[in-house]
Amino acid sequence: MNLRQAFLRHVGQTSEYPMCIEVEYAKGMYIYGPGGKQYLDMDSGISVSSLGHRHPYVIQAIKDQLDKYLHTMVYGEHIQAPQVRYAVQLTALLDKSLNALYYANCGTEAVEVALKLCRKATGKSKIISCNTAYHGSTLGAESLRSDTSYTMHFQPGIPDVHHIRFNDLDDLDKICSKTACVILEPIQAEAGIRLPKGDYLKKVKQRCEDVGALMVLDEIQTGFGRTGHLFAHQSYDVVPDVLLIAKGMGGGMPIGGVVASKQLLDTFIKNPSLGHITTFGGHPVCVAAAIATLEVLITESSIIAEAQKKADYLVSKLTHAFVKEIRYAGLFIGVELVNKDMIEPFILHVIEKGVLVDFFLFDPCSFRIAPPLIIDYHEIDKAVSLMNEGFKFLESLDLV
Ligand SMILES: Cc1ncc(COP(=O)(O)O)c(C=O)c1O
Repeated sequence: MNLRQAFLRHVGQTSEYPMCIEVEYAKGMYIYGPGGKQYLDMDSGISVSSLGHRHPYVIQAIKDQLDKYLHTMVYGEHIQAPQVRYAVQLTALLDKSLNALYYANCGTEAVEVALKLCRKATGKSKIISCNTAYHGSTLGAESLRSDTSYTMHFQPGIPDVHHIRFNDLDDLDKICSKTACVILEPIQAEAGIRLPKGDYLKKVKQRCEDVGALMVLDEIQTGFGRTGHLFAHQSYDVVPDVLLIAKGMGGGMPIGGVVASKQLLDTFIKNPSLGHITTFGGHPVCVAAAIATLEVLITESSIIAEAQKKADYLVSKLTHAFVKEIRYAGLFIGVELVNKDMIEPFILHVIEKGVLVDFFLFDPCSFRIAPPLIIDYHEIDKAVSLMNEGFKFLESLDLV
């Protein structure tokens, strides 16, 4: 049995048709398979590898922490310097109201923590989520999805979840005095990169304030420079009550977090205590990687500052007639094609040629480009040239 066969037989799968790209090694912008097959990563493992693969500063930080300690106790009991240091560093870069960080293992756990926190802090149960949002895959996070085509066999989800249409001001009336929280992404990712219109996010926040609900912003994909700002909400002049982070946070290591005021996070500590517990949340090796990632993003300020310019350049080159619309903020890009039947053959062809792009969960008409932020112009040219080859391939299929 070769590796591929063993993978399909013994590793739990998420679909009948996994990409099956065999990974031997990854560095910088590239993932390598057997025989030196090279893939230019234009997806960052879904907005994770913002500094590219195995950034040397991150690797060194991981190695240094390995020599000190790994797990010592379930989260919250021991004072671990990396956890303290990162919470201080990160919150110093945010609005002063966001002054404390609760660590989680991943994005979905951060979402679960936020839902529990908001229900407990407000004493209310109603949760509002947006249509075509994706917040993770546990039962609580799945309950936030509007479309039940993927989740119908897990129903019922958690009760009292209601949906509003993203960018629809009329729907804000559904946020009422019974609402514990509104959870939304500042830019909807899996809906195909849908940007908020005008001051939509500010209006959501205002409505939350008016009725006594908490605003939770899920920046799990948009965070850590992806959109050309450390966090997307900073460019929309809005401060959430709760900020969710993961993915790009760990430089390739699994970690997530919930940022809020210390007062709000302290809701978990009494009446009763242990509002949320996690064994591995904030694992010291992952936090060491997060510290290194943040330090690189801040000290090499051009990485974030140039994301928009690089994206403008990339987008200006994708001019084929099959491109219907490109939506983007920084290197967070959705490319809509004129015919949804083009998406799958395009993505598969381009991957075969050595460029990793990806599907969106809820937008069958678009494909995703979200490369490491360290991409240079030569690599953009290379990716664009192979994508243009992909459009030529589509021409040969006669799909229009
Ligand atoms: C916006 C958003 N929220 C939450 C999650 C869940 O994060 P994780 O897969 O780390 O649990 C994801 C994952 O793709 C996401 O895109």
